[in-house]
Amino acid sequence: MSTASASAPVGIIGGTGLTTLSGLEITGEREVQTPWGAPSSPLVEGILGEQRVIFLSRHGNPHRIPPHQVNYRANLWALQNAGVRTVVGVNAVGGIHPVMGPAHIVIPDQIIDYTWGRGSTFFEGELDAVTHIDFSFPYTESARAVLVEAASKLDVPISDFGVYGATQGPRLETAAEIVRLERDGCDLVGMTGMPEASLAAELKLNYVCLGLVVNWAAGKSDHIITMEEIEAAIEQGMSGVKRILVEAMGGLGALSSQPA
Ligand code: HPA
Repeated sequence: MSTASASAPVGIIGGTGLTTLSGLEITGEREVQTPWGAPSSPLVEGILGEQRVIFLSRHGNPHRIPPHQVNYRANLWALQNAGVRTVVGVNAVGGIHPVMGPAHIVIPDQIIDYTWGRGSTFFEGELDAVTHIDFSFPYTESARAVLVEAASKLDVPISDFGVYGATQGPRLETAAEIVRLERDGCDLVGMTGMPEASLAAELKLNYVCLGLVVNWAAGKSDHIITMEEIEAAIEQGMSGVKRILVEAMGGLGALSSQPA
């Protein structure tokens, strides 16, 4: 049974290009610890679009933690412990699908996980029982719908579909690896989508990804991938991401918890 209750703070995990959230009216900042260690950054509490928000910087502030060393468990645990029911993961990604070029915004609907060696479950150690969560649909459909509607209301072009291929990093992929990912059905490639999504599912949090394409994936353009290109795409696309976040906040805050 889902529980309809008053609005809860929305968790926003900011990635590359979103280390701080301009427009957030900050009301507090807390350093927290969790049974899984320290999260990547303090929890920044504030108001965005009239909605209570808790912002966490995935790579730390300043940006210093590489994707394979992010403590995803601590991040998700800290947000849940702070009362969050819904988490938006903002991710910089590479585009594979022909319409997903630099500065394009994508709200993906599926994931393929190629990461390894990351702390990827809360179900380890001394357990009473073995748990296998259902992960057929890794992103919460109602949260995706709120983001898609916000983008449509604002006339910000987005793709409301896409398979996110989560790679280990921190290096970018080879062109052959991207051909393989494409053959597997991936439309996007990024290094931080997993295990964030499955850990959120283990905690029964609503979870959605707001992806900003910052480069064509390896071999998908006539040049190699440069930091200048990535920075230019962030500059061009991040304002749309922020506008969608502001517009969507109230709707995300009102979402019910996942069934227990
Ligand atoms: N590959 C993996 N992760 C990324 C990319 C990419 O091309 N761009 C941004 N994050």
